[in-house]
Amino acid sequence: MDVFEAIGKRRSIRKYKNTLIEEQKLEKILEAARIAPSAANRQEWKFIVVNDQEKREKLVEAANGQKFVGQAPVTIVGCSTESERVMPCGQFAYTVDLSIAISFMILEATELGLGTCWLGAYDEGVVKKVLEIPYEIRVPVMFTLGYADEDPSPRPRKDIDEIISFDKFE
Ligand SMILES: Cc1cc2nc3c(=O)[nH]c(=O)nc-3n(C[C@H](O)[C@H](O)[C@H](O)COP(=O)(O)O)c2cc1C
Repeated sequence: MDVFEAIGKRRSIRKYKNTLIEEQKLEKILEAARIAPSAANRQEWKFIVVNDQEKREKLVEAANGQKFVGQAPVTIVGCSTESERVMPCGQFAYTVDLSIAISFMILEATELGLGTCWLGAYDEGVVKKVLEIPYEIRVPVMFTLGYADEDPSPRPRKDIDEIISFDKFE
């Protein structure tokens, strides 16, 4: 599968099989994060692989009761170890860096035949408590990972000419 195929095939998966993820596959997905680019190559990140059933149940509560979070065999939690740095463009580096790393992992997971769902609906404070994450660390992203037990149709997207312009904003 090439990158474009993985981009096209990825779906948000909210139903998972009770099948464990092979160690080799997980390692490859984590490697995709390790080699992802970051602003000034600072790599101010840590990733927590949550396998533990009890902790995954607690993450359901943290994620506004989204049950599939407990059903997926793994949730990967992206942590920022430096969350103050603002790039010259005015954006916080950590949100951009972590989003890139998670995107790379999600695409690699797709290539390996695994399903994922990006999570934004969660209480950061509760996640930090469950996973013993220190106060100064931010948690901008997390996603579920596992074998899909559903095959959702593509969700609608805007037409290309609605979102692209050339040489000026239109
Ligand atoms: C930043 C972000 C946060 C999201 N948060 C959630 C979430 O908390 N729960 C959920 O079920 N889906 C979540 N999603 C998935 C989106 O709903 C989904 O990507 C979108 O509907 C398009 O569907 P697709 O991913 O299948 O193409 C999130 C996606 C992104 C990019």
